[in-house]
Amino acid sequence: MSIEPRKALAKLKPYLPGKSKKEIEEQTGRSDILRASFNETPLGPSPRALRAIREFLPDIHLYPEGSYKSLRAKLAKLWGREAENFIIGDGTDEVITLLAQTFVNPGDEVIIGEPTFGAYRLGVAIQGGVIVPAPLLKFQYDLEVFLNAVSGRTRLLYLCNPNNPTGAYIDKKSLEAFLNRLPGHVLVVLDEAYADYAEAEDFPPGNDYLDRYNIIVLRTFSKMYGLAGLRIGYGLANRGIIYNLNRVREPFNVNQLAAVAAEAVLDDSEYLELSRQTNRQGKTYLYRRLTEMGLNFSATEANFIWLEIGADSKQLVADMLAEGITVRGGYAFNNPEWIRYTISRQEENERFVRTLEIVLSRYKAASRT
Ligand SMILES: Cc1ncc(COP(=O)(O)O)c(C=O)c1O
Repeated sequence: MSIEPRKALAKLKPYLPGKSKKEIEEQTGRSDILRASFNETPLGPSPRALRAIREFLPDIHLYPEGSYKSLRAKLAKLWGREAENFIIGDGTDEVITLLAQTFVNPGDEVIIGEPTFGAYRLGVAIQGGVIVPAPLLKFQYDLEVFLNAVSGRTRLLYLCNPNNPTGAYIDKKSLEAFLNRLPGHVLVVLDEAYADYAEAEDFPPGNDYLDRYNIIVLRTFSKMYGLAGLRIGYGLANRGIIYNLNRVREPFNVNQLAAVAAEAVLDDSEYLELSRQTNRQGKTYLYRRLTEMGLNFSATEANFIWLEIGADSKQLVADMLAEGITVRGGYAFNNPEWIRYTISRQEENERFVRTLEIVLSRYKAASRT
């Protein structure tokens, strides 16, 4: 007789992980893999983070300092806040799960954009919450759609700014008008995983709104800070929200190597500036080349670009992989003819464009015959 899990899990399937770099090398027989499907930094880890990890290695037999006091103090200084305004998570993913565990009762509603980052849905589903979709319009946020989706049962509302996978952002004026109209019983989760790359002058820093509205800002060390493999991110909110999340958090949820590396990379301004520059240069180049190719794409404030390929993205993902390049297929976001490419270094972006041109021209030739 099988043991049944909770009813809320009936429709859930285990996460299907992407292939590791090593597996792809073995599968394709290539050693020059360009991994552009996870929005990781193309620069490798920060030298300062590596040094901090090496220095800490002799102490890994000890449990972490479970409040991550030192990192929280550093973040507090960075954001002009108190250490009590921060929760450190095993990746931002964990903070997303904690939010659902802390605030969502079975039957409660959570408003989530479409298309957006998939992890928001999981935590809600596990709790038996109800996901209320709020479609983006032409891949842009229309916050009126989110306001109209609010009911008396709404607990959380996710805004991903800039949005994964489209790169679109919510400007300051729109966000403020929205917050002023949103009923007070809704907690806004403002996911700023990619905000480090945003350059638009009217991009709103979520930190400015914590005292006036019910908001938690999410940040990650996985993208510009180059620590995706260590798993560390954080939430920034008023003390009450953080206190409640801490009631659910496991005592040693983040490993100490991740915590020391995160502290070190916060000081590595040279590395962070190089990241920004590389992304800026890549974005300019890709805008120009994709326009020359006649491809439709969304303007981006992040480190990836969302583009229409006019063909089945499952096929294109396979064909690009055969050439050693991984991209994210839009089929995973219900947009089967789009792909998401992580902006990389100049020579890598050139290789991507060259390869994409060849693959798309093959499709054209095949459709003519
Ligand atoms: C929008 C968004 N939020 C959060 C995350 C998760 O980040 P972490 O690696 O810190 O769990 C990602 C990862 O891709 C993301 O795209």
